[in-house]
Amino acid sequence: MSNQRDQWSSSLGFVLAAAGSAVGLGNLWKFPYITWDNQGGGFVLVYLACILLVGMPVMMAEIIIGRHTQESPVPAFEKAAKNLPLEKFWPIVGWLGVIAGLVILSFYAVVAGWSISSFYYCIKWSTSGYVTGDVKFGEFVGNAPLQLGLTLAFSLLTAFIVTRGIAGGIEKATKVLMPVLLSILVLLTLNSFTLDGAGQALAFIFTPSPMKDGEHGFLEALGHAFFTLSLGMGAMITYGSYMGKKESILKASAAIVLLDTLIALMASFIMFTILFSFPSVVEKMGKSTAGMLFVTLPEMFYTEMPFGSIIAPIFYILVGFAALSSTISLLEVVVSLFVDKLKWSRIKATAVSSGVIFAFSVLCALSNGASAWLSNFKLFGNADSGLMYSLNKTFFANKAGFMNAFDHLSANWLLPVGGFFITLFVGWVFPAKVAADELGMLDEQGNPNKLFKTVQFLLRFIAPVAIGYIIAKVMLGTDFA
Ligand code: PHE
Repeated sequence: MSNQRDQWSSSLGFVLAAAGSAVGLGNLWKFPYITWDNQGGGFVLVYLACILLVGMPVMMAEIIIGRHTQESPVPAFEKAAKNLPLEKFWPIVGWLGVIAGLVILSFYAVVAGWSISSFYYCIKWSTSGYVTGDVKFGEFVGNAPLQLGLTLAFSLLTAFIVTRGIAGGIEKATKVLMPVLLSILVLLTLNSFTLDGAGQALAFIFTPSPMKDGEHGFLEALGHAFFTLSLGMGAMITYGSYMGKKESILKASAAIVLLDTLIALMASFIMFTILFSFPSVVEKMGKSTAGMLFVTLPEMFYTEMPFGSIIAPIFYILVGFAALSSTISLLEVVVSLFVDKLKWSRIKATAVSSGVIFAFSVLCALSNGASAWLSNFKLFGNADSGLMYSLNKTFFANKAGFMNAFDHLSANWLLPVGGFFITLFVGWVFPAKVAADELGMLDEQGNPNKLFKTVQFLLRFIAPVAIGYIIAKVMLGTDFA
């Protein structure tokens, strides 16, 4: 093996791989249903503000650390913080990221597995006719062997690609898949405009309406901004570490953020249009909005869309691939730690981390009905008042079930807290000149220019204050007595 660190083969390669990490189930599965649950417009507005004011600066901060050190998160912080204040503290942020990666991947692989089964059903419907209500979502997610099998299949696929390395595996796959995914989504969006519910869907998304639960809604919007952009856990540090020195971090970040946001909004528009056009679909969906991507959409493909029976199976393959390019980046964070720190081979590192993560995936896979205990699991018990109740409410928004708990904990706590320290580090501790140099924002005298001052202001004040404020507000609203 050569000592040369693996690198993206081109600037486009980095943007597509990073966009591949960002665009995934967060956009296609999670954003539409949490937007629906939070009553649309107001939530979307807060979310967009979080993306712009917090997400974009943190994205740049992570890539700066990664590219400057050419290391994965833990050693990256060790190197970047050398001889700086709190030198020993910063690598902990890297470790936190590795834990977040592990937690996210364990439930993400379960949902990713659902795309495989949707694909199977589409093939069936395309060949022998669509049957409304064929898939009972509750029964499907409650089927233990099926859930375990699908999750295992997806986990193996992820592990296989990660063993193949950076340019050879990850970059090659995303280069083809991202453009196809985008094209199909545009096609679906255009088709949605022909349906009756389109106007209502647009109004639902873009009219700022109050949220159901303001404080938690804010935290959820912020958390989702981190989740959807793959921030706060070092995925972008890791990907940035494979980025060439000549590429523009600003342009790459802007492209990733734009693409990610666009795809999330398109996915929501498509799904809400169906929901508003066919009220019976809403009934069928019931309270389990989490099934939206897998239950609602087939209705459109098979009853409303020209060539829908051809496009449907292709679409679910792409959902699977969008998820795959995200699971790869999640696993890569964990694997690169073992490779860089313990000097393990890629294969060994991948095998060990995938094995550990899969053990947690099993708990998640069984927590949607298959096991009553896991499905009703609440970390602080089932009390409906008192301290334990408050802890459940604050940290888990009272959600029950192992998978929901993992999802909530990682997206709404681990990632924002990680992001909080990353922005403080690059804003206040890391030398401004080096950061400006990484961003290509030095003037002729070699001093940070005006644009850098703006980025620095966001990193120093806006992002940490916004994150700190929201977290404090949720904590202070808790009755710990
Ligand atoms: N951004 C991915 C998505 O939206 C999820 C993810 C989170 C990937 C964190 C990597 C790191 O689906």
